[in-house]
Amino acid sequence: HRAPVIAIDGPSGSGKGTIAKLLAEQLGYSLLDSGALYRLTALAALDRDADLTDEATLTEIAGNLDIRFELRDGEVAALLEGRDVTRDIRMERVSMAASKVAAMPGVRAALLECQRDFRRAPGLVADGRDMGTTVFPDAPVKIFLTASAEERARRRFEQLRGKGVSVSLRDLLEDIRARDARDMNRETSPLAPAEDAVELDSTGVDIDGVLQRVLRLVRDRI
Ligand code: C5P
Repeated sequence: HRAPVIAIDGPSGSGKGTIAKLLAEQLGYSLLDSGALYRLTALAALDRDADLTDEATLTEIAGNLDIRFELRDGEVAALLEGRDVTRDIRMERVSMAASKVAAMPGVRAALLECQRDFRRAPGLVADGRDMGTTVFPDAPVKIFLTASAEERARRRFEQLRGKGVSVSLRDLLEDIRARDARDMNRETSPLAPAEDAVELDSTGVDIDGVLQRVLRLVRDRI
């Protein structure tokens, strides 16, 4: 039988990345951070000064990505053509570019098989926007994790401040709203809960509270 998938979808900043990582650790499952694939595509395009509105070029880049994920000091490092770009792909300009290239059907199609290849025994935790709807529609556990835009901007603000990066909370909130709108309104695989997804709102709930709820679902369904 096919290895089970735990699909965790939701907007940026909902905490799904953190939850996915903790779940994978606890269960001994593989981890797919699908957003990283869109970020790597965006970075590869920016690196070669590609026209970010040219779908054919972007699709070609997405289909020929030379990437690897490696465990380094307990963190997942992303390598693009052998270069460690773990930090680069989190830059704000890459985030914005990623959300633009992710709206292109050609790019999404080019990354589909690559995402499904992450599925292996004993199981996979996959986080993104369309894990439960498009990439792994047969996942036995589907979570749709949300939080208010204000709370997500605040979390990002604290995170950046912790790293010594100074940003304005208002700019972050605007960025988050722009990205939400693009993710929810695109034609191909828009951000939306699968019909059989369990929706969890993490506003005002700590990570452990969310994790315990998800673990209960996993125990019931896998
Ligand atoms: O989750 P993360 O913020 O790293 O994703 C980066 C961008 O990739 C998002 O803004 C979103 O537009 C896109 N994305 C997507 N589908 C996914 C994962 C991410 O469209 N499954």
